[in-house]
Formats: sequence, C-alpha cells, structure tokens
Amino acid sequence: LGGAPDLVDESVERLDRRAFAPVLDALGQQGSVGLLPTPALICDVAALDANIGRLQTLIDAAGLSLRPHAKSHKNRYIAHRQLLAGAVGICCAKVAEAEAMFETRAWRGDVEVLVTSPVASPAVADRVAELARTARVIAAVDDLGALEDLAGALSRSGASIGVVCDVDVGLARTGVTSADGALQIAARSSELAPLRFLGLQGYAGHAQHVAPRSERARAVSDAAGVLAATREALEHAGYACSIVTGGGTGSWMVDAADGVLSEIQAGSYVFMDREYRDALAGDPEDCFAQSLFVLTTVISANQRDFVTVDAGLKAMATDAGPAAVADGAGTYAFFGDEQGLVTRSDESVLARGTRLRLVPPHCDPTVNLYDHLWLVDGDRVVGLSGVVARGRSY
Ligand SMILES: Cc1ncc(COP(=O)(O)O)c(C=O)c1O
Repeated sequence: LGGAPDLVDESVERLDRRAFAPVLDALGQQGSVGLLPTPALICDVAALDANIGRLQTLIDAAGLSLRPHAKSHKNRYIAHRQLLAGAVGICCAKVAEAEAMFETRAWRGDVEVLVTSPVASPAVADRVAELARTARVIAAVDDLGALEDLAGALSRSGASIGVVCDVDVGLARTGVTSADGALQIAARSSELAPLRFLGLQGYAGHAQHVAPRSERARAVSDAAGVLAATREALEHAGYACSIVTGGGTGSWMVDAADGVLSEIQAGSYVFMDREYRDALAGDPEDCFAQSLFVLTTVISANQRDFVTVDAGLKAMATDAGPAAVADGAGTYAFFGDEQGLVTRSDESVLARGTRLRLVPPHCDPTVNLYDHLWLVDGDRVVGLSGVVARGRSY
C-alpha cells in the first residue's frame, strides 16, 4: 500500500468547476470550509484518525483482528488509513462495492476483501471470480448453489477464493439457520478445488442499536452462542474455522469479551451518527468522536423561532429520524426535499448565510448520497476524496 493516501484523489476531476473553483483554489487555507458549496459532506480528519486508531488499539489489545466494513464510507482514503493502522483487510457489502474499491493499481494483491452479502447468482459469481484474479477475496455464502456458481466461475477464471459460511445469528436477514446447513457448506466447499473453507460469518445487526447496554449485551451474547455452537459442530466434524467474523459499532466490546469472534467488521465507528450516538450514549462503546457532518447554510431567516437551511430530504438518509445540530445550535427537522428547519431562540442568532454542521441520522446511506467527501481540519479544507463505491449496491 505504500505510505499515507493522497489527501486529494482523482475524483477532483469530476467536480463542477463553476461551483468548486473557489474552494479548490483555497485548499489548505484558513476559512476554506466557508467556501464549500452546501450541502456538503465533510469529515474531520483528526476525529477520523482518532476513531480509526482507538478501535484498532482496543481490538489489538483484545487479541482479535479488525476487518472494517467499507459499506459505511465507500471510500479509499479511509480504507487505506484503516489498513495502515493495522486492519487485516476490508469488508464490502456487495461485489460491485469491492470492484469500485479495487479500481486502483495500488491495492491489487495487497488487500484482502470479504464480500459480506451472499453470492446470489452465476453472474455475481463470475464477477467475484474476475475480482479474485487480481485481489485476495473471501466470499460469504449461505447456500450450496452459491458454492457451485463460484466453483464454476473460478474454474473459468483460474483464480481461487476463501469462503465463509454466513450464519443467521438472530437477524434473520441472511445465513444458514442450522448447524447442519453450515456443515453442508463446509463439506461441499472443501470438495471444490478453487474454494478454501475458512470459517463462519455471523452479523448481529438486530443487536447493534439496542439500549440499554444490558439488553444489547444479552442479544449480542445470544448471537455469539449460535456461532459458538455452529463452530463446535464443524470442528467436531473436522472442519476448522480459522475465521469467525462479525460484530459492529454497537457490539464489538461485548463481542471481544465473549471471545467467539476472531475478527470484528465494524463500519460506522469511523464516522458515528445520531442514531448510534443516541443508542450508545454514556456506554463504554460511546468512545468515538463525531467525524462526519453534513455542512449546511441558512438560506432564509425571516421567521422568529426558526430558520431554513439548505439540507433536506435529499441531503441525508431519512430512515433514522432527523439530524442533530452540532454545537447545540438548535434542533433540526426535515422541511422538504431541499430544506431543513432549525429552531432558534431569537432573531439575533442564525442570520442568513450562517453555516451549521448537522450530525447525520444514519451515516452509511447518507454517505451514499454524495460523490465526494471533503476532508477538513478545523476551518480548513485539506482534502477531497471520492465516494468511489457510491451506488455500487449490486
Ligand atoms: C454484515 C455487516 N457487517 C458489519 C456491519 C457494520 O456495522 P456497523 O456500521 O454497525 O459498525 C454491517 C452494517 O450494516 C453489516 O451489514
């Protein structure tokens, strides 16, 4: 991977020069954040690096590996920094997300990617096999048919991949629903030459945002129990599990204590969002800084009790309720496709043109609305990085 990633990547070529020339000309200068056309997705690099370092340190200390999920950022700059900090590889949700992340010469061969959604068709298997010609790939599967699709595709491409059996640990979204299902997958993948059976994946998505912590811990440990029993059945039958992968921003600490997972797939911790802030508030897991914001501008300030800002339904994901306004500068409500409402105490504050930072309700789908992530340090824009896997949900 070489040294640190570039602060400005090739996505700069795709910017609309009419709007962005002033901020590009002022890159690195004090006050340049004030020149960003809004709404804009900004990431505080100091908070980002602190989050990356903190989780890596804690996971190292627990004797586990970290394979952060790229679904949250879809961005090579952040993945690169995670890898430099000690991550063993990355996760991608879909093969297209992985293809986009690997569309750079620098990564080929060096970075191992786990595609966490089960392979659904021969066409997807073909793309996995093509990616595996130049990258190290692990695929999650929960069906024998996926193994046949992958083996066929790999025999044509001449590559090989690792396989983990996805286990339903209570979310009921994907995964085999019995130890017997996992045994069948282990047995068949061990027979197919281009496949290496590596172990299990179990993501307790249903537990990540549970509050209070005691209930979250119970749900996480129940999920770990399912994985432990499945691993035991496999090992009893002679199939070793060198990888047991799962976990997220709400569960990693309990996962580490439970000792079933060998690696953690957390994603949101690099950014955090309002939903996680609310769910984890005051818990030991609430140790990450808010690094991601939607920068917005007051566009109308003629009402006494509130102002209108330029970030509405199109500026952030809406599944998790409203944004929070950073620095306690009011409360936010959606106010239409292009607008939001921010309350104010009186007419002397939040004049037209004032800029505010919004804490997005849910980081992953918010990031997916933007082509670019602006890297900021205080009031300086220091970089620009493409959300290269934006829309790559196939
Ligand atoms: C399979 C899988 N692993 C890991 C994660 C990352 O979880 P989080 O963003 O909560 O850290 C997700 C998020 O949805 C996921 O679907």
